[in-house]
Amino acid sequence: MSTLGLSADELLATTRSVRKRLDFDRPVERSVIEECLEFAVQAPTGSNQQGWRFLVVTDEDKKSALGDIYRKGWDIYSKMGASSSDDSPAIPAGNRGRQQMRVVRSAAFLAENFHRVPAMVIPCLPGRMGDDSSMMSASSLASIIPSAWSFMLAARERALGTCWTTIHLLFEEEAAEVLEIPYHEITQIALITVGYTLGTDFKPATREGGAEAVTYWDSWPKK
Ligand SMILES: Cc1cc2nc3c(=O)[nH]c(=O)nc-3n(C[C@H](O)[C@H](O)[C@H](O)COP(=O)(O)O)c2cc1C
Repeated sequence: MSTLGLSADELLATTRSVRKRLDFDRPVERSVIEECLEFAVQAPTGSNQQGWRFLVVTDEDKKSALGDIYRKGWDIYSKMGASSSDDSPAIPAGNRGRQQMRVVRSAAFLAENFHRVPAMVIPCLPGRMGDDSSMMSASSLASIIPSAWSFMLAARERALGTCWTTIHLLFEEEAAEVLEIPYHEITQIALITVGYTLGTDFKPATREGGAEAVTYWDSWPKK
């Protein structure tokens, strides 16, 4: 499989959530997904547990069932105010608001077309996330999220677009049933959509104030 030859910095700055620029008609080869997953399992895990599991879904019937579940979740989520309309109180004013509206429209597009996504990758962890201490919860999540992000970076380098999604988790048990995941033993962390991108040029996102605006040194700032 050929790669784009992006520099590490380009890769880190341009791995975007791709929804509208996915080629729904081009299948993603199993070997390419396997290659990306080899990078995923290079990530660190708490106590070197390596409890990660990745369920890859390409079966049309299963994707269709997951699409129905996702849209059911989207209907709920989009009415929660974070995303529904231009005058939603959750949408900030100015550039940030315009960026947010683009995300909402793009997310609505993905919801509509969810079943058409060529491949879906569900990172999972053993056990159920419950009332753990923040140390335990943070350690659990940090034992899968870096690996999933490595998967997404490796995918970008191979001309694949991905999007981290969580909306199907509103009905996680239903999705578990579709995929025969033992719900009481395994937690799904996300559903990463995967497909070849239409074009490969992606730009860095605008983050207001850059890292400086959200970074403190040595102590938390006084109010
Ligand atoms: C925890 C988390 C949950 C997300 N859930 C969804 C989702 O369910 N559906 C979706 O379309 N995008 C989802 N996203 C993608 C974000 O909306 C996206 O990262 C954001 O729009 C910024 O775009 P960018 O990644 O291209 O910078 C999620 C991202 C994160 C980190």
